[in-house]
Amino acid sequence: MELQLEERSWNEVAADWLIVLVSKDVSWSFPLSDLDSHLDGVLSQLRERDEFPSDVGETCKLPVAKGIAADRLLLVGLGSTEALTPAKFERAARIAFRQITKKKDQTVAVAWPGTPNIDSATAIQTAVMSAVIAGVGPGVYQSEPNRHPLKTLTLLQEASDENRKSGEAGHILGETINQTRDLVNRCADEIYPESVAQKAKEMSDEVGLRCRILDQEQLEAERMGSLLAVARASTRPPRVVVLEYLGASSEAPTLALCGKGVCFDSGGLSIKSSEGMNTMKADMAGAATVFGALAAIARLKLPVNVVGYLGLVENMISGSAYKLGDVLTARNGVTIEVLNTDAEGRLVLADVLAYAVDQGADKIVDLATLTGACVVALGEEVNGLFTNNSEWGDEVKAAAKSCEERVWELPMDNDFNDLLKSDVADCKNIGGRWGGAITAAKFLEKFVSEKPWVHLDIAGPSFATSSKSHQDSGATGVMVRTLVELARNFK
Ligand code: BES
Ligand code: MN
Ligand code: ZN
Repeated sequence: MELQLEERSWNEVAADWLIVLVSKDVSWSFPLSDLDSHLDGVLSQLRERDEFPSDVGETCKLPVAKGIAADRLLLVGLGSTEALTPAKFERAARIAFRQITKKKDQTVAVAWPGTPNIDSATAIQTAVMSAVIAGVGPGVYQSEPNRHPLKTLTLLQEASDENRKSGEAGHILGETINQTRDLVNRCADEIYPESVAQKAKEMSDEVGLRCRILDQEQLEAERMGSLLAVARASTRPPRVVVLEYLGASSEAPTLALCGKGVCFDSGGLSIKSSEGMNTMKADMAGAATVFGALAAIARLKLPVNVVGYLGLVENMISGSAYKLGDVLTARNGVTIEVLNTDAEGRLVLADVLAYAVDQGADKIVDLATLTGACVVALGEEVNGLFTNNSEWGDEVKAAAKSCEERVWELPMDNDFNDLLKSDVADCKNIGGRWGGAITAAKFLEKFVSEKPWVHLDIAGPSFATSSKSHQDSGATGVMVRTLVELARNFK
C-alpha cells in the first residue's frame, strides 16, 4: 500500500473512495459544508432525513458521488465529539476500511473533520494501521481472496515531517501485525518449528535483528528437558529462536519477550476432542506476537534493548510421546510430574523463561495461548495479566491501555502454589479443577528467578472464531502494539 499525505480540498482528490469519519455533532462548516456544496447538498439532505451516520461505526455509502473528484463517498460515524476516544476512532476506521478492501487495487482518500479529543499523531497512525490490517484476511488459501490491500491511501492532512512519521509508524504497525496474523492463520502443515525459525531468520535479515536458532542438539546441551519432552512425539523437531535487538548501549537494561510457540496442540496423549483441536494451529500466537513485535521495534528503531524468545514445538502423539506420570527436569533443575500432556504450553515456557533469565533478561513479559480457563474467566476479548511485581505489572497495563488493548489482572496469591504440589517431584504440571489460568501462571513463576515478570494469557483475544464488523475472523495480532508501546517506554 502506497501512503500519501496531501492537504487539499476534499472535493479535488481523485480516488475510488473518499472516506469521511464524522462525529454526529460535527460543526457544519468548512470543510464539510464545502464538500456538501460540491455534492449539491446531498449531505445536508441526509442530515435533514436523519440518515447521516451518528453512532460509532455506522456507515452511509454514496456509491455514485457526483460533483467531486472521488468516485464514491463513505461516511462513517464517530458518535459524539465529547465521548470520542482513540478506541472508538479505531473501530470506526476499521469498519470503514473493511467495507472497501473486498475489491482489488482500490485507491482511497480519508479525512476526519474536527476530532479535538484525539491528537493528530494518534489519528493518523490509527487510520493507516487500520487500513493495512483491513487489507488482509484469514483466507490465505483461497484461490480468490476476499480481501485485498489498498493500492494507495491518501491522508488529507498536512504533509509535515511529524505527520509523515506518524503515518509511517502506523504503516509499520499494520504490516507487522499482519505478519503475526499470517503466521497464526496459516495451517500447521506449513507453520512448524523449523519453518517459523526460517521465517524469523528472513525477517531478521530484512529489519536488522540478530537471529540465533537453537536446534534439537543445542536444546539438549542447554538442558531444556521440559520443552524437549513436549516436542518428542512430533516428526517436526523443536526450535528455540532468539531475536536480539540492540537499540541502546550495552549497559542499558534488557527487555525479554517470550512466546509460546506450540505450532499444533493435539493435546498429546491427553488428547483433545476434534472440536477442541480445530483451532490449535493458533497455539503459537504468543511466539507470533513476539515475532511481530520485534519486527516492529527494529523497523521503528526504538532506542532500547529487546530480546525475543520463541519456544517452538508441536504437541503430538506417537510411540515416543511423553507420558502421564513422567517426571521432567527443566533447565533450572525443577522437576515436574506430568499429569496432563495437554498442559504443554507451560512446559515449553518453563525452559524458555529460564533461558531468558540466564541470558541476562532484566524484565520479562511472556505471551501464551495458555489456558481455556482464562477464556472462561475473562471472555474472548480480554487478556489475562499475571505478575510477580506490581510495578512492572502496572507498566504493562499502562502500555496496553494506551493502545486500547484489554488486559485484566488475576491474583497470584501463594496458596495457589499448594495446588501444584506433587508427591514425587517438585511440582506437577496441572492444578485442580478451579482457577486454571492462575495455577498455570503460578507454575510459570517458578522459572523466572524472581525477575520482574508479566505473563499475558492471550488464549481468547488472539484468535477470533467469527468475523465482526470491525475485525475479520482468525488471527487478530493482539498485543503486538502493547509490546511496542512497552518497548517505547522501557527504561
Ligand atoms: N492451548 C491450550 C489452551 C487454549 C484453549 C488456547 C483454548 C486457546 C483456546 C492449552 O495448551 C491447553 O490445552 N490447556 C489446558 C490446560 C489443562 C489441561 C490444565 C486447558 O485449558 O484445558
Ligand atoms: Mn494443550
Ligand atoms: Zn496449548
